[in-house]
Order: sequence, then C-alpha cells, then structure tokens
Amino acid sequence: MAPAPYVASRTTSTQVFKPDIFAGKVLFCTGGGSGICRAMTEAMMRHGCKSAIVGRKIDRLTKAAQELTETTGQPCIPAQADVRDPKALAQAVKTTVEKFGRIDFVICGAAGNFLAPISGLSENAFRTVMEIDTMGTYNTIKATIMHVRKAKGAYVHVSATLHHNGTPFQAHVSAAKAGVDALSAVLAVEEGPHGVRSNVIAPGPIGGTEGMDRLSVRGSDSKQRSMMVPAGRMGDVEDIANAAVFFFSDAASYITGQVLLVDGGWEHLRTMSLPYPEAVLDPESVRKYIKPRM
Ligand SMILES: NC(=O)c1ccc[n+]([C@@H]2O[C@H](COP(=O)([O-])OP(=O)(O)OC[C@H]3O[C@@H](n4cnc5c(N)ncnc54)[C@H](OP(=O)(O)O)[C@@H]3O)[C@@H](O)[C@H]2O)c1
Repeated sequence: MAPAPYVASRTTSTQVFKPDIFAGKVLFCTGGGSGICRAMTEAMMRHGCKSAIVGRKIDRLTKAAQELTETTGQPCIPAQADVRDPKALAQAVKTTVEKFGRIDFVICGAAGNFLAPISGLSENAFRTVMEIDTMGTYNTIKATIMHVRKAKGAYVHVSATLHHNGTPFQAHVSAAKAGVDALSAVLAVEEGPHGVRSNVIAPGPIGGTEGMDRLSVRGSDSKQRSMMVPAGRMGDVEDIANAAVFFFSDAASYITGQVLLVDGGWEHLRTMSLPYPEAVLDPESVRKYIKPRM
C-alpha cells in the first residue's frame, strides 16, 4: 500500500525573515483591497512597510486599509483608482507620496477574470481584461517608475500559469498575463541600470480567493485537486505573500527579470498520465498499468 503523501507546511514570512527588513519603505499595491494582493500587502507591512492599496471600490479599500493598519501596526491608506485610467493612477501615486514621501515597492496585481470560450468571447470582454491586466500594469509602471527609480526599489507583477499551456476558456487572461510577463522582463532590462528590479509571481490555483471561486467547477472535489499537487495541498494567499517578501527583500538583490511559479509543483504534472501521487509513493503499483513486453 502507498504511504500517505507529504503535505507542505504553512509558514508565515515573519517566521523566516526579520520583522524590520522593510522599515521606512513604502509599498504601492494595485488590487490590494482583496485576496492575494491584500495578503501580500499585509505580509510586507508585518516587516515594517507602509502601504497604499489601490482599487475601484472605495468602501472595501477603506475597510481593508483600516484592518491592515490594526493588524500590522503600520499605516495603510486607501487610494481609489481604476488602473485603466492613467490620470486616476497619477492621483493615487501623488496621494501616496504626499502621505509617505516615497514609493519603494510596487505590486501590479489588479486583474479581472471569468470563464468563456474564445468563440463566445465578445470583443469588449477580451478588451476589458487586456485593459485591466496588461494596460493596467503598463499604466501602473508609468505612474510609479520615477519614484521607484529614486528609491532603487522593485516591482512584483502578479501573473498566472494559464498561458504556459493552452488553457481552455482563458484566452483573454492568457493573452493578458503573457503581456504582463513581457512587460516585467523589459522593465528589468531597461531599469536595471537605474537600480530597479522587476519580477513576476505566477500563482497556481489559490484556495479561498475570489479568483478561484469564479473559476472553480461547482461540485469539484477540492481534496482530489490537492492530491494533484506535488506539495500535497492547494496554495493559499500566504504562499504568494511569502514569495513577495522574498522578492522585495535584499536576499533577492541579484534576482530580476524572473518568473517564479508558486504552485506547489503543479505545472510539472500536467502531462502525468499515471495515478498521482500513488505511482510515485508506491512504484510497484505502476506495473498494472504498463503493457507487458512482447
Ligand atoms: N486566485 C487565484 O487562484 C489566482 C491564480 C493565478 C493568478 N491570480 C492573480 O492574482 C491576482 C489577485 O487575484 P485574486 O484571486 O486575489 O482576486 P481578487 O480578490 O478579485 O483581486 C482582484 C483585485 O483587483 C482589483 N481590480 C480589479 N479591476 C480593477 C481595476 N480596473 N482597477 C483597479 N483595481 C482593480 C479589485 O478591486 P476593485 O474591484 O475594488 O477594483 C480586487 O481587489 C490577480 O492578478 C490574478 O490574476 C490569482
């Protein structure tokens, strides 16, 4: 019988990194009012960073900013802006710099998603996702770059793994996130000599997020899905937050232009045809699936 599979531990960044590594630094995070980007902001603040979170819904932003301030003891301000609107973003940046005096770190994480086959995807729907994810990232870079240069800071862009394969019903997001990856690589090369780093975090499916809720098949077995991850469980927001803390820290000072998959190894299993993880935990069990040699 196969032994029980290992399940990766859950660790918060404060158990690994010192609590003051970002003291005096300022983070500007689009999408920071909810989900993955809110968790990334919280982790940065737990290490001493001040922050501004950007989104369209001011009520949610204000509530999130208050909660983040209370939980971490660092100040967080809501900065309302639609990332498709360069003027609104410029105002959000101005508000942040007036309040905190600088911007060291930027997370480009605002995004939209839904399931639709390319044959049924309207031009408008496709354009909307491109405008939020790709143009939004471009607009955010344009609005912040001079401040980040001055601070010799860094960018983290939140991408995905969908576009590494032809993921069905995800043409819009796949095209948009491929654009995000490309922007980050160019930014790393152009801004490296100015002291700016740029990297991408590509999350696998992350449990308990709005993004995952929108894409999950109703009635699908989450336990079964967890088994299909080499790390033995679905990702959670903390896993992505830990990666962001690493990328912004000096421990990553020689790392730029990279795409880091934070997916528990899931990407490499897409071609696995044998039962997983039974086949690797009990290699003898594989015999029954293999045709005897002539
Ligand atoms: N969840 C996953 O499993 C998963 C997997 C791979 C990648 N990702 C990526 O991770 C990031 C966060 O996703 P999530 O699942 O945590 O979803 P989420 O909670 O829905 O986060 C999206 C955020 O973006 C903001 N936003 C959307 N459109 C905007 C716009 N036009 N202007 C400004 N802000 C906007 C939303 O705030 P407002 O509505 O207030 O504007 C919201 O706070 C996204 O980049 C997503 O593509 C997620």
